[in-house]
Amino acid sequence: MVSDIKRIGVLTSGGDCAGLNAVLRAVVHRAVLGFGWEVFGIEQGTLGLMERPVGARLLTVEEFDGTLLRRGGTILGSTNRGNPFAYPMPDGSVVDRSEEIIEGYKILGLDALIGIGGDGSQALLRRLAQQGGINLVCIPKTIDNDVGETEISIGYDTAVQAATSALDSLQPTAASHDRVMILEVMGRDAGHIAIVAGIAGGADVILIPEIPYALEHVAQKIDRVRRHGRNFSLVVVAEAVKTESGDPVTVKSAKKHRYGGIGHYIADRLADHIDAETRVTVLGHIQRGGTPDARDRLMASAFGVHAVDLLAAGKFDRMVGWRNRGLIDVPLADATAQPHVVDVNGPIVATARALDICLGDQ
Ligand code: F6P
Repeated sequence: MVSDIKRIGVLTSGGDCAGLNAVLRAVVHRAVLGFGWEVFGIEQGTLGLMERPVGARLLTVEEFDGTLLRRGGTILGSTNRGNPFAYPMPDGSVVDRSEEIIEGYKILGLDALIGIGGDGSQALLRRLAQQGGINLVCIPKTIDNDVGETEISIGYDTAVQAATSALDSLQPTAASHDRVMILEVMGRDAGHIAIVAGIAGGADVILIPEIPYALEHVAQKIDRVRRHGRNFSLVVVAEAVKTESGDPVTVKSAKKHRYGGIGHYIADRLADHIDAETRVTVLGHIQRGGTPDARDRLMASAFGVHAVDLLAAGKFDRMVGWRNRGLIDVPLADATAQPHVVDVNGPIVATARALDICLGDQ
């Protein structure tokens, strides 16, 4: 089946990451130059569709003049707050605003929508699409790389690079001061950034939420490193790693609880086992901003083109992805059913173990 689409919308939803503008460029180029469609960029995720007048603007090929491909963030803006089905109102009430979003889509006269988001955003967009008869295709993005059914999400590779660069910077100062340096990286439910950057950045210990740990194993490893003549150690810990008793570690910042603090928790607890000086670096949103690396730009380009091609072929309710060195597309329901977490029996964990990196469980 070939669709009779003439005008599509595109939005970025959830936490931003590097490579979003590169996706928008690919979508606009393919849709405008390949099919002669109009592309409306919706501002601030689904919030733009709630606004009146609708927060959206026509995106042109000329706008993507070569600078946006390499720019971090998203020119459309994004939000990871405000579930449209339980939208928090200024008076403290919670309101279902889904029909307003669907109406916004209709006001714009859109024939289809491309949603660029993580698993949470995709699930919400799918619900909206089913309720409002929206022809939806999604593109996975998140530095956490935890979207189901795809090996890679946009933004992940650049985040790994940022975390690896942080370890490159921490190593010399760790060595100068005989210190244990703990780097806390993002990853809300999955340890992909931690384990890959940890291997690439020469970490001695990597703690990820998928593998339960004991502090004594970490301390023993640090001790072993010292006894073998190296005066410093590098530890990477994913923010979603829990305390030894299984509690999440969160900080209250701007009146909201969010992940943060596991690095300091580990440092405090390690002090009971080792006498080396320990310092903690929390890398934070540096992993989200920054210039997209080549791989993220490539994935963004491939995903953007494939998403438009799916719409052109009349294939909706799907997510594009990457698996076994190839582009794929899968039912959105499958993509949002299970997160993609680190395979504890897979080659990356095996590589870490073979390099004698302590993963906390032995
Ligand atoms: O899901 C992406 C992510 O960057 C997580 O790694 C992190 O926990 C969270 O978003 C941070 O969200 P916020 O920008 O709201 O602090």
